[in-house]
Amino acid sequence: MKDNVVGVGVIGTGMIGSLHAENLARRTIGARVAAVTDIDRGRAETVADRCGAKAITDAIALIADPAVDAVLIASPDVTHADLTVACIEAGKPVLCEKPLATTVAEAERVLQAELAAGRRLTQVGFMRVYDRTHREVYDLLRAGELGEALSFRGRHFNPFSGLKTIETAIVNSLIHDIHSARWLMAAEIEQVYAQWAPALADQPRSARFASIGLRFASGAIGTLEWSGDSGYGYEVMVEIVGERGTAESISHSSPVLRRGATIAQAVTPNWPERFAQAYVDEAQIWIDSVRAAAPTGPSAWDGYMSLVAADACIRSTETGLPEAAVGMERPDMY
Ligand SMILES: NC(=O)c1ccc[n+]([C@@H]2O[C@H](COP(=O)([O-])OP(=O)(O)OC[C@H]3O[C@@H](n4cnc5c(N)ncnc54)[C@H](O)[C@@H]3O)[C@@H](O)[C@H]2O)c1
Repeated sequence: MKDNVVGVGVIGTGMIGSLHAENLARRTIGARVAAVTDIDRGRAETVADRCGAKAITDAIALIADPAVDAVLIASPDVTHADLTVACIEAGKPVLCEKPLATTVAEAERVLQAELAAGRRLTQVGFMRVYDRTHREVYDLLRAGELGEALSFRGRHFNPFSGLKTIETAIVNSLIHDIHSARWLMAAEIEQVYAQWAPALADQPRSARFASIGLRFASGAIGTLEWSGDSGYGYEVMVEIVGERGTAESISHSSPVLRRGATIAQAVTPNWPERFAQAYVDEAQIWIDSVRAAAPTGPSAWDGYMSLVAADACIRSTETGLPEAAVGMERPDMY
């Protein structure tokens, strides 16, 4: 690492990759974007120019590049497991966007690679842990203000961004809510029951709305509600019921306005606006942890266990029954 500044290589310069690259280049202390790559060469060059980085032709060459001290993976979900393993084998810290993999078996392969390396190198992009409104609820819970947590409710409503199958909705989108639930409740999900409404009647596996019942290893219960076409904007909120009270995160972006016989409150149009600061904080805290060689944040274990729960949700959509989420025993490293 030159002058204690982390040279980051960014793989995938689409929507979130270019946002991360900008944050690392302009809003993160102790980082610079050393290199970027994308199978769309023109896109990589545009982002490289903007960030003062070099554009490299492929991801494996980027990971091996001596100017790259740490890697951020923002290419499509199916590429995550292989690229994360390549970073681990190269001994380079990696922030991999969610999901860690698209199947439990692939996530376990990442976990095994990290266990073989004997140290934590992977952080997964579950950035809600850096969102202030989630953090406030987390801090109340950990301070014991609510007593024991009895129930979790999560709402994740998206504006329409293309037709999704129920499998993709779970592995690509609801995975955020699954991780939030595990993180806030400080307990693994051990049983799920998934129900959903298709977006199109003639495509029964398409997803418009999903509702997932949860049972945690602590005995607590919960529900996740997901929409792929909210009709009004983007909203993410959590509510915890505890023994001595409840805490609900604030998902709105404006004061409550009472005027002209209405009560109104604005939400953000989509996720980049809702979580803009969380992405900045995620990048800074990741870079701080790389400089200190002291990994923090959502780990490969979190990525793996979230996929174990996601897999149980998919099975539940197939069987129409509650399904158990059973992962491997938690290794000491985590
Ligand atoms: N944490 C979050 O809130 C959040 C938000 C959005 C997306 N994501 C995740 O980030 C990833 C990217 O999502 P996006 O919305 O930016 O998608 P996108 O389609 O806008 O961008 C993906 C980019 O990766 C490139 N690419 C494809 N295969 C590649 C490869 N093998 N090597 C290098 N580049 C490759 C594509 O050309 C494209 O430019 C996904 O895994 C998604 O789940 C996370």
